[in-house]
Formats: sequence, structure tokens, C-alpha cells
Amino acid sequence: MACHVDFKGEQLVLVAEGQTLLDASLKAGIPHYHACGGKGKCTTCRVRVLTGQEHLTPETHAEKTIRAVRHFPGNVRLACQAQVIGPDVQVQRLIKDDADRFIFLNGEQENITEVTGERRKMALFFIDIRNFTPFIEAHLPFDVIHIMRRMFSLTRNAIEQYDGRIIDTAGDGLYAVFGMETKIRKATESAVLAGLKILEDVKIFNNTYMRPYFNHNFEVGIGVHVGKVIYGNVGIGLNNNLTVMGYPVNIAARLQAATKEVNNSFVISQRAYSLLKNPPYSLDSAMLSLKGVRTEFEVQLIGKPYQYANSAAQSK
Ligand code: FES
Repeated sequence: MACHVDFKGEQLVLVAEGQTLLDASLKAGIPHYHACGGKGKCTTCRVRVLTGQEHLTPETHAEKTIRAVRHFPGNVRLACQAQVIGPDVQVQRLIKDDADRFIFLNGEQENITEVTGERRKMALFFIDIRNFTPFIEAHLPFDVIHIMRRMFSLTRNAIEQYDGRIIDTAGDGLYAVFGMETKIRKATESAVLAGLKILEDVKIFNNTYMRPYFNHNFEVGIGVHVGKVIYGNVGIGLNNNLTVMGYPVNIAARLQAATKEVNNSFVISQRAYSLLKNPPYSLDSAMLSLKGVRTEFEVQLIGKPYQYANSAAQSK
């Protein structure tokens, strides 16, 4: 049976019985945004059913789960889940604006998985050079660039040696992930080994290069956490590069920032620590209050207390 669905204010679309609202609208050329690729894992495809609610299939498990979290009214459905089973349905897309249209039109030609991203458990790794500003203040710009490149390559080598992938760099820090192709336990081991190697390599770099030639000692802060993230080319950033994002990423970034507060160069969440088969020696554990996290967050301190980073400018 062929039915009609009226996408209010947009188009009257001929729909085959059993076709989802999303499939119907996309086939009709409506720029219906669907951030998770139609898997019932986001809310961007949601519609308000104005008439003909009874001509749609019952709520799916995915919809029930999302409704419980977002408290949507009963007439709001996910277009990728609701199939049409009768005539005369009228719906109104709820997320639509020019920015969505732009994203849709620029991404829709590409592979849908690439554009919308995949969910995966990964180890998230943030590192920052602790005492870079005093170094910049005391040295010539080209010396600074040269040393920054040395530090970056030292960090990158360790991350890549353990199959990590650098996602972003900003100022004197960077963000990497482990577990693009491995299970979470192995990914966490790798992130920790890469971090410990960086701490060791920085020490050697200070002894053999920085102190003799620049009278300076670098120290770094590392934060590691694990969790489910979205990864893929989600159309963020100028070069449309790989993006990995999600709440656990923010936590990992905050753990890195907390290295100052707890005076330890490597802070790992208890959740990540518990995944390690041979956990490194932990100097201490701590309960941290992280911005945006309701309850206190347990961490292990597996680095060293800072020797230089908390003192005044050290080099001239
Ligand atoms: S597209 Fe994500 S829930 Fe429908």
C-alpha cells in the first residue's frame, strides 16, 4: 500500500508501507539531518507527529531509551525508527535550520558512516607541556619553534610506537586516542605505556639537550581516561579530519589539567587503571572534583611530583 506523509511546510511524500519516515524524507530530497546515521542513537531526526500517530509502528527500544533520558512528549518520534503503516500521516521536523541544511548538503555525498561517525570504546590521552611559557619568555622565537618541534616529535614517536593516533594539537599540548583497532584493555595499556615512555624521554631530553644547551627543564602533564566516544569524519574542523568526541574526552582533558592541582605528572582515572593487567606503581589515589562532573572522581597518580614546573622561571 502506498501512503502519503505530509512533512509540514516542506513536501508531501509518497511512502511505501514499512518505509521509515527518515528514509522517505531523504529519498524525497528533504535535508533531514541524521547525525548517527539512522541508528536510533541521537535525536537529530526527531519529528512531531501532528496527525496519524496510529499509522506509525510502535516505539522501538531505542526510542524508549531516548525518551526516558530526554523526556520527549508522546507525539515526538525518531524518524529513523518510525515506519509508516497507514495513510495520512502529517509530521513536522523539529531540528531544521540553515546550518543543518549546510552540513547536510556538504556531507551527504560522502559515505554515511564517515560523515556521521561510529561509537567505540577508546583510551583518551591528553598531554601538555607544563612550563613552556617561561621558556617562550626567555628565548628567541626560532629557538622556541625548534624546541617545540623536538618536543612534539618526542611525544608523537611514543604515541605512534604504541599505536596511538594524534587527533588534535593546540598550543603546547596535544590530544591522542588509543584503540582505533584494538580492544579497550589493550588500548589502555598502550596509552599508559606511551605516557610512561614520554615521561622517561622528557627526562633524557632534559639531561642531554635542554639543560646543556638551553638551561631549562621541561615537565609534562598527562591525563588518561577511557569510555565510549564517537569517532569519524563528522564534519568538524577546516580539514574535515578524523574527530573523536564525547563526554569521556572532556574528562580526560580535565584529568590532564588536574595534574597541576595534585602535583603529579600522570593522572589516570580509576576506571582506566582497573583495566590494566600490570598496573604501574601508583604514588597515591585521589578524589577529584572535576568541572561539569557531579560526583567526585577517583584517580590514580602514576607519574612523579613536579620538580620545576611549579617554580618560577628557570632559564635565561
Ligand atoms: S538519525 Fe539518529 S536517531 Fe535517527
